[in-house]
Amino acid sequence: MQIQELKLLNFRNYEKIHITFADHLNIIYGKNGSGKTNLVEAIYVLALSRTFKQANDKTLIRNGTSLTKIEGIVNANYQNTYKVILTPEGKKVKIDNNKITKISDYISKINIVLFNPNDLKMIKDTPSIRRKYLNIAISQLNVSYLRKLNDYNKLIKTRNAYLKKMYLNGNSLQSYMDILTEKMVEIGLEIYEIRKNYISLMNSHISSVYKRIATEGILKVNYTSDYENKTKEELMMVYKKNLSRDLTFGKTSFGIHHDDLEFILDDLPLKEYGSEGQQKNAIISWKFSEITIIQKEKNVTPILILDDLLSELDMDKIHNIFTFIENDIQTFITTTEIEKVSSLLENEKYKKIHVSNGKLEEV
Ligand SMILES: Nc1ncnc2c1ncn2[C@@H]1O[C@H](COP(=O)(O)OP(=O)(O)OP(=O)(O)O)[C@@H](O)[C@H]1O
Ligand SMILES: [Mg+2]
Repeated sequence: MQIQELKLLNFRNYEKIHITFADHLNIIYGKNGSGKTNLVEAIYVLALSRTFKQANDKTLIRNGTSLTKIEGIVNANYQNTYKVILTPEGKKVKIDNNKITKISDYISKINIVLFNPNDLKMIKDTPSIRRKYLNIAISQLNVSYLRKLNDYNKLIKTRNAYLKKMYLNGNSLQSYMDILTEKMVEIGLEIYEIRKNYISLMNSHISSVYKRIATEGILKVNYTSDYENKTKEELMMVYKKNLSRDLTFGKTSFGIHHDDLEFILDDLPLKEYGSEGQQKNAIISWKFSEITIIQKEKNVTPILILDDLLSELDMDKIHNIFTFIENDIQTFITTTEIEKVSSLLENEKYKKIHVSNGKLEEV
């Protein structure tokens, strides 16, 4: 899969640009704050219709304007034109000028794997961040997954609201609560199975990738869930038992909305024991495993974005990482250190794009 052309209108610090990319390697370089991350973020937004930053999508709109448009021509089996139009009121997505009403029908089309220094949060931060990364990874493989997740989240909201109502108003219907709970358990179990399968696929790749990059250590990912090893009937019993507690707190205390992932290096949790370098290598290994999983499951090669990967890694690690970038992977590498990248890519052909203050120059 390759993005051939990108047009931006009022996207972050870009006013209006039109650029074509190389099918394999694209090196985007320039000073801090020039717009390198913004450029690759635009490709990400084209694929997933949202920012990867922990920020409101409104921040994508260039200050002082009220609409941003991202348009790209992407080659996969066919060539299609994708468009994302964002205003403070909402977003529209189009494929070949046809409006797609359900975002979930749009976002599994362009496959993308992105590394950004912020991804270290996946190890350090809270479970909700890890679930977000997991959801994005799975949603690129499984179109119905996001719909199931939306349904589950709606059910949790309805159930929590009903818990509050029951608490205040004793004669509410227990049977309605049972129906809500049963529906939630059914969808929850489907999500649990999909997540479990994904982590199992991840574990069949991640350790060998890690070893190739870091040269030593056995990495694996543990998936923990309230739903682990439980049947629908057992889960219904748990909710029955928890009901008085849930009523008191007005919240559903048990379910796949608490799922978590844990990175384990040589039997120890990376979050508590790992060095910065080990954590970074683990995240990179997760990303390269994502590529292999997409290739195997969907028979397409995703677009790879390595934003600022090179800054804190030593040269031999970078060299090991580059060995994973095969010829059929369209790759975007951003850097402030063009000499460093050039020396590593001595025998490779690549396109150089210089960024300065929201202006692009193809070198
Ligand atoms: N909505 C927006 N409107 C205008 N400018 C914006 C907007 N959002 C971000 N910027 C500007 O974009 C610039 C940052 O660009 P970007 O993050 O792409 O830099 P970078 O080249 O990746 O830098 P670094 O090397 O430090 O990572 C900042 O100057 C920021 O103020
Ligand atoms: Mg940047």
